[in-house]
Amino acid sequence: MTRHLITSALPYINGVKHLGNLVGSMLPSDLYARYLRANDQDVLFICATDEHGTPAELAARAANLDVATFCAEQHDVQAKLGEAFSLSFDYFGRSSSPQNHELTQHFGEKLLENGFIEERVTKQIFSIEDDRFLPDRYVEGTCPHCNYDKARGDQCESCTRLLDPTDLIEPRSAISGSTNLEVRESKHLFLLQSKLSDEIREWVGKHPDWPLLVSSIALKWLDEGLHDRGITRDLKWGVPVGREGMEDKVYYVWFDAPIGYIAATKEWADEDPENRDWKSWWYEADDVRYTEFMAKDNIPFHTVTFPGTQIGSREPWKMVDYIKGFNWLNYYGGKFSTSQQRGIFMTDAIEMLPADYWRYYLLANAPESSDASFTWEGFSGTVNKDLADTLGNFVNRILKFCSAKFGDALPEGGEIGAREIALAEVMQARIATYNKHMEELQIRKAMQELRAIWVMGNEYLTEAAPWTAFKTDPDAAAVSLRFAINMIRVFAVLSAPVIPTASQTLASALGLQLNERDWIKKPVLDELQVLPAGHEFTIPDVLFRKISDEEVAGWQEKFGGLEGE
Ligand code: MF3
Ligand code: ZN
Repeated sequence: MTRHLITSALPYINGVKHLGNLVGSMLPSDLYARYLRANDQDVLFICATDEHGTPAELAARAANLDVATFCAEQHDVQAKLGEAFSLSFDYFGRSSSPQNHELTQHFGEKLLENGFIEERVTKQIFSIEDDRFLPDRYVEGTCPHCNYDKARGDQCESCTRLLDPTDLIEPRSAISGSTNLEVRESKHLFLLQSKLSDEIREWVGKHPDWPLLVSSIALKWLDEGLHDRGITRDLKWGVPVGREGMEDKVYYVWFDAPIGYIAATKEWADEDPENRDWKSWWYEADDVRYTEFMAKDNIPFHTVTFPGTQIGSREPWKMVDYIKGFNWLNYYGGKFSTSQQRGIFMTDAIEMLPADYWRYYLLANAPESSDASFTWEGFSGTVNKDLADTLGNFVNRILKFCSAKFGDALPEGGEIGAREIALAEVMQARIATYNKHMEELQIRKAMQELRAIWVMGNEYLTEAAPWTAFKTDPDAAAVSLRFAINMIRVFAVLSAPVIPTASQTLASALGLQLNERDWIKKPVLDELQVLPAGHEFTIPDVLFRKISDEEVAGWQEKFGGLEGE
């Protein structure tokens, strides 16, 4: 049997993530993990915080904390938010873990042994006043390409070009603002990616099934030619290189971060070594299917750089089988921005409404084939129509009516007929389509199908009209109530990967407990008769509440929605 390894791109530690980050990796990977578990697959779902690099150090400085304390606190914050959004990681680790130090150094040594790493003397910016080197974002200045005057040493935010700190015009220290800088020589390790290029291309070529977004970015990088890359920095926070003459250097964050996937698996195993075997998932793991989730800016690092690290080790590490990449979720046409605090952050969202509202909306609008925009109008429209009217209203209407006319149990009497058989047939086909979209990770299409399945509930009630049948033919009304209440159970099971909390509420209303392994596997006509006459239920509170126009207006004002248009 195949085992499924699933990873979400590691959220960076410098602050709480926004909805764009959530829908670009963590949420869809959770959907997939839940779906596969429900279908009896062996799943290991791994995530972690990405904790090294200058943005982490600068954020710690801004928070007036030493970087280790800052990262520990922020890891905790992100772990709790993950739980609040029902992200079902088997393990949520840290790229700063001892396990990652060890593995990163291991990869560094292997690459060196195999001739893919070389020492070079480079020119780095040194700040006299700060008495230290200033790599990456520790230097700010004017972009030589577009003249933006707050460009950072690794990249210009305005024109997005990648930069080297020495490219900046009128450079200054991001720590002290000092312009008393000089260029000093410093020895660094370089990954000779050019030597690995053909092997990486060959490996990419073995994956014709990757989404176009993913393969086109990979090929673009390969076609432009891979440059040898400096993979160490003059910093203290990070994985020490641990080589003589390089005592003050650590590996670059993008070198150690993806190794963090493996290391977080080891963290997971180290918590229960007798029962968990990390290596079986990552080393000579031919029976593992490995799926990665990420936004498009991460694709080059996962299709070229990290695979290069793995290939260059000349060891049989598990490489990714399928990459699900996402475009951007924008906030009213503009970018969500952590540094500018623009958009909606996970902390804001969870204070406003329960996770399931966001989960459904975001998945239904996932930026799969192109960028998508979050708008408050779109959000409230989807919640009100799909969750409140279509799903919630069906459940409440039917349970209340049954309770009023027959009591709090499925009524006796009558037999299912042509209408029910026909409905089961249609639903059977819809569930097959839903499964197919989930397996193929066509997330928007899967959500459309799920919604179409919910719609069948209200359509059935309209046709069977138990409220009128009740007066003339109580047995017919009893049949349709039994059938409709059984539909609630089917909906709860099928919706669980998307809206796990609401699904659990539905199941408990029916006196059932949902298990992560539950799915609709038998013929639908049988599934729709699982709960027999006499089975008791309770009426749940409003499952999804409606969002009012006033709330939308208030949120637009609070979050600055309209000015972004
Ligand atoms: N922290 C990176 C980001 O937020 C993603 C790192 S993915 C990893 O874009 F695998 F490399 F860790
Ligand atoms: Zn620029």
